[in-house]
Amino acid sequence: MKSSIWKIFGFLVLTVVLYNWIGYAITDLSGGKKDMSGAVEISPEGGETLYWGKGRCYTCHSLGGQGSAVRGPNHGQFGEKFPMPMGSRATERAIERTEKTGTPFTAVDYIVESMAEPGAYVVNGYKNEMAVVYAPPISLNLNEIKAIVAYLMVQGGDLDMEAIDTAPSEISTKLYSKIQAAQAAGGGDPGAGETVFEDNCEECHSLEGEMIVGPDLSTIGDKGIKFISESILNPAKSITPGFETYEVETKDGTKIVGLKTRDEGGEVDITKKNGDVVTVVQSDIKTISVDANASVMPEDLNEAMTVKDFQDLQAYMIMQKAEKKDGE
Ligand code: HEC
Ligand code: HEC
Repeated sequence: MKSSIWKIFGFLVLTVVLYNWIGYAITDLSGGKKDMSGAVEISPEGGETLYWGKGRCYTCHSLGGQGSAVRGPNHGQFGEKFPMPMGSRATERAIERTEKTGTPFTAVDYIVESMAEPGAYVVNGYKNEMAVVYAPPISLNLNEIKAIVAYLMVQGGDLDMEAIDTAPSEISTKLYSKIQAAQAAGGGDPGAGETVFEDNCEECHSLEGEMIVGPDLSTIGDKGIKFISESILNPAKSITPGFETYEVETKDGTKIVGLKTRDEGGEVDITKKNGDVVTVVQSDIKTISVDANASVMPEDLNEAMTVKDFQDLQAYMIMQKAEKKDGE
């Protein structure tokens, strides 16, 4: 009896020791890895490594005579088409962005925007096909993006590390937080997420401040990633006030389920899932009740999506913020 207790005790001690040792070994491993490839220095040199490496900028851009890609603008001074290298060109572009948006852009803001929201300003003569560099497969993190901004700024511009890193302007701060938000959403690609949205959600949700079947989602990003994913995975768990599911049974036995979108003059409108509106006369109603456990929004939307679709959708949703609309 006693000896078996000791055996168990011995086993426990051994388990704890082993567990700690494995823990150490793993920390050692990942720590070691970090030193080799992880943290990049936020400097023009760090940016140069990324530009011609992980960032894959060179697959579309050249820099002066370096590189041969022509899909995107040359980032150096090159021929008649590019009289100014990127650092000084950015100052000129910033003036255009200031005029267009009414918000004062700096050269750094312009370069940050080129990467954070490539579609916001498309260089004349090019297509809107710049990669989303903070989404897969490129997946640059914020520090890496800052390093590349520094690298592009030294191409004929003044390097101001404060404006890039420690004390960014209001515009850059907003763009940085958007990049971080998209990354927090599992590194999804908001561009691909737009397509997922069009395929699965647009029939019920507007991003322009309108009410279709479900609530407007033009500022849904402000509610945070957790709220968004819960709303998609489990719509009935917290039903948006004003969008409760009504069940109406008429005196002739017909059942109608949907949102109550009008209730006046002795009539009730029920908007069904498919957007059809059924008008019922108050006096024909036998029972009307709210089903607190059901949402008009389908429960199984995520089943039709791949994990990538879901991450891309989340990244697109998190970018729908009130402040983004102001900047446009
Ligand atoms: C898939 C091709 C592609 C990749 C990869 C790509 N870009 Fe671009 N980029 C473009 C195109 C096309 C444009 C022009 C259209 C536009 O303005 O969005 C552009 C525009 C730009 C501009 C604005 C240029 C100007 O003259 O005002 C900057 C800055 C920029 N890219 C930086 C980068 C950086 C940094 C990387 C790597 C981290 C990168 N790009 C990766 C295609 C790409
Ligand atoms: C058949 C219509 C319908 C479809 C399709 C639909 N929804 Fe909904 N959605 C609703 C309704 C109705 C509500 C409000 C009731 C609720 O909260 O469940 C809602 C609520 C939401 C909310 C919470 C909004 C808030 O402010 O509280 C989010 C987020 C959302 N939907 C996202 C999506 C996304 C993303 C998709 C596509 C994958 C989608 N919905 C597809 C009808 C729909």
